[in-house]
Amino acid sequence: MKLAIVGCGYVFDIYMRTKWAYPELEIGGVFDIDAARLRTVCQHYGLHAYADYESLLADPAVEIVVNLTSIRSHYDTVRRALEAGKHVYAEKPLTTALEQTRTLFGLARSRGVVLTGAPCNLYCDAISSMWKAVLDGAIGKPVLIYAELDDNPAHLMNLEKVQSPTGARFPYEEELQEGCTVEHVAYHLVWLCAMFGPVTSLTAFSKFLVADKTATPLVPPDTPDVSFACLNFANGVAARVTCSWVAPRDHQMWIIGDRGVLSADNVFHDQTPVRLERFSKVSLTARKAYTARTQPQIGRLFGIGGQRLALLRRWKSHAIEAERGVGRSVKHKFVSWLRRREIYAQDKMLGIAEMVRAIGENRAQPMPPDFLIHLNELTLLIQRAGPGGVATQPVTTFQSIAPLAEIVAAPQNYRDAYRPRLFERVLAGMIESLQRR
Ligand SMILES: NC(=O)c1ccc[n+]([C@@H]2O[C@H](COP(=O)([O-])OP(=O)(O)OC[C@H]3O[C@@H](n4cnc5c(N)ncnc54)[C@H](O)[C@@H]3O)[C@@H](O)[C@H]2O)c1
Repeated sequence: MKLAIVGCGYVFDIYMRTKWAYPELEIGGVFDIDAARLRTVCQHYGLHAYADYESLLADPAVEIVVNLTSIRSHYDTVRRALEAGKHVYAEKPLTTALEQTRTLFGLARSRGVVLTGAPCNLYCDAISSMWKAVLDGAIGKPVLIYAELDDNPAHLMNLEKVQSPTGARFPYEEELQEGCTVEHVAYHLVWLCAMFGPVTSLTAFSKFLVADKTATPLVPPDTPDVSFACLNFANGVAARVTCSWVAPRDHQMWIIGDRGVLSADNVFHDQTPVRLERFSKVSLTARKAYTARTQPQIGRLFGIGGQRLALLRRWKSHAIEAERGVGRSVKHKFVSWLRRREIYAQDKMLGIAEMVRAIGENRAQPMPPDFLIHLNELTLLIQRAGPGGVATQPVTTFQSIAPLAEIVAAPQNYRDAYRPRLFERVLAGMIESLQRR
């Protein structure tokens, strides 16, 4: 299907990194109100530039509009695309007003077009593997989630100097003004709600902690830079989600069941290692020992952290394994490899491809409107909780969603993770005898 992209800023380059793996998604052209930026990306990627948004929308060949504009432009750009009869894939958050979000989905329904969007990490190898392990009962009954999204103390990170590979500067003013919750919490909410269903009640707190994060004055100057949310899911699971731009980076995901725990290192990495620890007296007792807790290699001998799960491979797993979008020099290749290995790797085209696949197969979108509206409401409730906190019930809900059929059907072997090793059993016996003295 032919698509056109509106908004060619920082995140545009991240989309383009994995475009090479999607020959089926043809980009008919792009538009940005920043003429210099439009020129740069069109020259770099060899794309057609539309003279204005009207001509993009008037192009009958364009079936999907991908909206990568700044958050405050989302409502208008998405509305106009829907009114022009285009399907829309939009970056998150769709809007920062629940009523506007509902209006857009209502509009899409009345025009008979699809509206869906980011984040698409729900479809990645790591989260698909975790979802399947939960469904397969690998940790027993899931009961508790800890989801971390601390993204370093922003005031020490020289955000003014960060640029995309084609020179779009990181929009740090917008990121800090919108806030870490609006920008990031959906990366966790998306997998939490997919796996465990709608949230029926929530207790949240948000606060502004560190002033003068940048030399530029921000408007407003005091958007919360930390939030905590305790989520009560209809199916009985409880979750605690943290977002901040204050604490050192921590992007971990923990799904704790009554028989074991699944953990993953980095929600921003589509192939982050996933570990499955089937609880045993061995691993639980070993955690009492300081060295076993603080030295991972030693802890593993006792079963702490369990075994690494082989990740399910999905139809586009290769997209982040060999990026070709931005530069071909040896330096680019090395930096890209290092970033993908150590820091983060996200295939943002995958969300568009899953949308197109569902349209082509004439089935419902894997992330349907009521699901995305619920994520939007939760995001806004957490962001706006304030230092006094809120305990409330979301007004939206959704029909639980199922994982894609190929994820359910994929073979997976949990046997290794289930069996404490001989060494593990011997050492645990020693610890227990020490405890008895
Ligand atoms: N920066 C990131 O790392 C990141 C990551 C994931 C998602 N996002 C999301 O992607 C979206 C864009 O973020 P970004 O970082 O690329 O921001 P950005 O400011 O770098 O880019 C936005 C671009 O949209 C253009 N634009 C704004 N209004 C427009 C309009 N009405 N018509 C046409 N063009 C318009 C701007 O000129 C700018 O070039 C946001 O929703 C953000 O939350 C950003």
